Amino acid sequence: MREYINKPVITIDGPAGSGKTTVSQIIANIYHLIWVDTGALYRAVALVSKQTGVAADDIQGLDQLCHSLKLTFVQQAGGRFLFNHETDISQDIRTPEISMLASRVSAQPVVRHYLLNVQRQLGKQGGAVFEGRDMGTVVFPDADIKFFLFADHTVRAKRRYKELQEKSVPVNFDTLSKEIKQRDRQDQQRKIAPLKPSEDAIHIDCSHLEIDDVVNRMRENIDKKYPRLDKREYL
Ligand code: DC
Repeated sequence: MREYINKPVITIDGPAGSGKTTVSQIIANIYHLIWVDTGALYRAVALVSKQTGVAADDIQGLDQLCHSLKLTFVQQAGGRFLFNHETDISQDIRTPEISMLASRVSAQPVVRHYLLNVQRQLGKQGGAVFEGRDMGTVVFPDADIKFFLFADHTVRAKRRYKELQEKSVPVNFDTLSKEIKQRDRQDQQRKIAPLKPSEDAIHIDCSHLEIDDVVNRMRENIDKKYPRLDKREYL
């Protein structure tokens, strides 16, 4: 019997800019589940590889680097932060350069292997929403409910552009749009754990849906399967 029979693990996979992060946080909040942004973990590896000069194809270097990390998500007033040892890296991992580097290092089996264990450790008590690329296919193949979000490329590029502008990260729309295409290609075509929907995932096309519509569609599925799951009001 699974340890988390009463507290489900929900997976939300999809490409960059599909709206995963926003809806994952809302769903976690409604159902009192923890929220794990697994992309942040790959971004942390990318950031440290840049800082220490370890190339994205240096397998031994990446292996050592991974084992030198101490990554912790910390919930504090003002949001959720990612620390490596004592350093808050939450802002530094969000640049377009780190997005591209995260996609490259994430294709390396040593990095995926290391983070697979980190993610499973975080999910072992259940009661969590995991967002990423391979949550439903590889990390939690027997998750209780799986979603796969997607959206048109232009919609995603516009969304990401707005997000970065709001965070005052300097960005050019055409460059960002090309980078998202390249990242999609890299994430979908890598040999290990590529971005793809799990066979039992519920697909949601978010191109023309508001956030609330996506959340409501997810809630219908969750409430049907877990009618007694403790939840907050969401208006
Ligand atoms: O979700 P994100 O944009 O923050 O992810 C950054 C990169 O990390 C993404 O391009 C591919 C990689 N990634 C991955 O390979 N597997 C995951 N579960 C999450 C992210």
